Amino acid sequence: MSLQIGMIGGTGPQGQGLAIRWGLVNEKIIIGSRSQEKAKVISNQVNEKLGKELCIPRINEDCVKESEIVLLTVPFEHVISTLKPLIPLFTPKHILVDVTVPLKPFEKGKMVDILPENQIHAKSATELLRDILPDDVPVVGAFKTLSNAILRDIDRLPELNQDVFILGREKEAKRIIKQKAELIHNLRAVDAGGTLSARHVERFTAFLIGLNVRYKTHDCGFMVTGLPKRK
Ligand SMILES: NC(=O)c1ccc[n+]([C@@H]2O[C@H](COP(=O)([O-])OP(=O)(O)OC[C@H]3O[C@@H](n4cnc5c(N)ncnc54)[C@H](OP(=O)(O)O)[C@@H]3O)[C@@H](O)[C@H]2O)c1
Repeated sequence: MSLQIGMIGGTGPQGQGLAIRWGLVNEKIIIGSRSQEKAKVISNQVNEKLGKELCIPRINEDCVKESEIVLLTVPFEHVISTLKPLIPLFTPKHILVDVTVPLKPFEKGKMVDILPENQIHAKSATELLRDILPDDVPVVGAFKTLSNAILRDIDRLPELNQDVFILGREKEAKRIIKQKAELIHNLRAVDAGGTLSARHVERFTAFLIGLNVRYKTHDCGFMVTGLPKRK
């Protein structure tokens, strides 16, 4: 049985980018929003780009109710306020996939970095979510280093050619998300270990944004060398 993917806050560039890439391989995606109207507008735009009716617009509550794999694609500073009212809707049959990165606001000329420990939380975003979700709901961190610019650019399919890091303590949930990630053409999913690894991966994203600024691009990503070949 194919597990339904939904995205809380799927109307932003990252959600749209992932919806486009999955849409290209015929995955139906629920685009969640605080507003049904906004979800509809964005879903129509993505469907038009794909030339097929694959995105389903929903308010965030219904997105959780109607999906098994729920990606969280809202800005980090709104994670708690967005998720708190939705937590009772999660069951052990769900997998929450954390895509968020707790970045400091961008300041020209300053190093791009994640939020300092004393501002919001000493841990990574994924650890924070692992702490607030019930113990029996799997939480996986993924897609944190993928640039929306390249994901959304339907004319640059082969250029994706990147790795995504999949992390979390629940092995079966990680396996499922790895499989879903690898449905996307030219994407390799790398098992990056337990939830704690999100501390590294979220910093990698800050590092990539710094490279983007320096090289005046939006496309930087990771491809790890030396890993065993895919079977
Ligand atoms: N952009 C990238 O290239 C990229 C790459 C890697 C990781 N990420 C991470 O992915 C997440 C989404 O990125 P994004 O660029 O798509 O973000 P975004 O455009 O700033 O926000 C995504 C969606 O979140 C919802 N949202 C905004 N403010 C909110 C609030 N106050 N309360 C509740 N929901 C709110 C909005 O959906 P509605 O108005 O429809 O509710 C919005 O469309 C972020 O955590 C980011 O760190 C992004």
